[in-house]
Amino acid sequence: MELYSAIDWSHAFAPRMERMRASEIRELLKLLARPEIISFAGGIPDPALFPIDAVRRAYDLVLADRELGPASLQYSISEGYEPLRLWISQYMARRGVTCGTENIIITAGSQQGLDLLGKLFLAAGDIALVSAPTYLGALQAFGAYEPRYLILTPESSQARTICQETAGGRVALAYVVPDFANPTGETMGEAARRGLLGITAEAGVPLIEDAAYEALRFEGVPQRSCLALDVERCGHIDRSHVLYCGTFSKTISPGLRVGWICAARNLIHKLVLAKQAADLHSATLNQMVLHRLATSIYDDQVAKIVKVYGARRDVMFDALVRQMPDGVSWTEPMGGMFIWVTLPVHLDGAELLTASIREEGVAFVPGRAFFADGNGCNTLRLNYSLQSEAGIEEGIGRLGRLITRKLTGAMWRPRGHSRLG
Ligand SMILES: Cc1ncc(COP(=O)(O)O)c(C=O)c1O
Repeated sequence: MELYSAIDWSHAFAPRMERMRASEIRELLKLLARPEIISFAGGIPDPALFPIDAVRRAYDLVLADRELGPASLQYSISEGYEPLRLWISQYMARRGVTCGTENIIITAGSQQGLDLLGKLFLAAGDIALVSAPTYLGALQAFGAYEPRYLILTPESSQARTICQETAGGRVALAYVVPDFANPTGETMGEAARRGLLGITAEAGVPLIEDAAYEALRFEGVPQRSCLALDVERCGHIDRSHVLYCGTFSKTISPGLRVGWICAARNLIHKLVLAKQAADLHSATLNQMVLHRLATSIYDDQVAKIVKVYGARRDVMFDALVRQMPDGVSWTEPMGGMFIWVTLPVHLDGAELLTASIREEGVAFVPGRAFFADGNGCNTLRLNYSLQSEAGIEEGIGRLGRLITRKLTGAMWRPRGHSRLG
């Protein structure tokens, strides 16, 4: 029994808090702790693949070093640890972006990058162009600055119309996840990237490129990033209107909370001010450790996880082909962590989740959470980075049976039924 009742503070909160709600996904993550549930809900790396020994060695080396040890526990500059920024600038150069350390700021994960960019560009009522569906965390980060969302379809001329429309409010930024997007797993083609760059450059709208999954390519030729294409278009990074958000979360570890923004110097200067106000700087020790890890194991680590996730993607894809009834479709990502499923329109993803947990012990994320405009009721996001291949096979089998029951009752036969005998 409660001994006292909490004070109702609702009158005291700023209006922006109205828009801040607990993420459905964070709530779903709690299900990961229940061993009987096969969860495709998380969007997180497999902890079994974390380079724990290398991380332990890196902490030991940094702390034991006569100069780095004390410095690692001290305050440091808001821009971030210079050697780490140098490594990142060389990484960006490998990705076709010529830049210097002055074009990089270290952030506490790319999530903080999105928040700082919201702070930089958005005033209440401004328009933020986002695709639908898009990364929920971006909607949450920008939401604090009270924008209105308009849906961006990079492939269509609609983007140009919106960018030119000023009567309805200022178009303050555009946001895309061009590679293996969360939640769809899809990748923008080069023509769409170039089209969007041209339109946003012409309209003077900053383009935020969230490259969280870019390194997790299983096959095919890497796409050139929007930033790389734009540097080529305008001749120099300091003239580019693209702000590239990178992260070590999907490759090395999300727990270390180290990401970066790569952009024109004058934009980095403003971001440094915003970063200073937010948290002074990212943890010095973690930046130094990340620098050691980046210089020693980055490529091997990426190769290791790409192999494992790629095999899991294959298993999930094959299982979907075999187990899903007609009328259900899905994306075919070449990297990242997600497959996006579209159900027949009359099936609701959120209702399906309730039934799925109760009847089949399988969790996923209903797709509607990823739509700024409330659409997408008949969609789901499936994550394959966190389940074993056997778990994926079993879970998709159960999900397929459930969807089939919902659609056609007992008369259903799976696709490929005859092939399997
Ligand atoms: C598209 C996208 N961007 C950014 C992030 C944030 O990652 P972090 O802050 O760990 O770099 C995530 C995390 O899931 C994501 O999916």
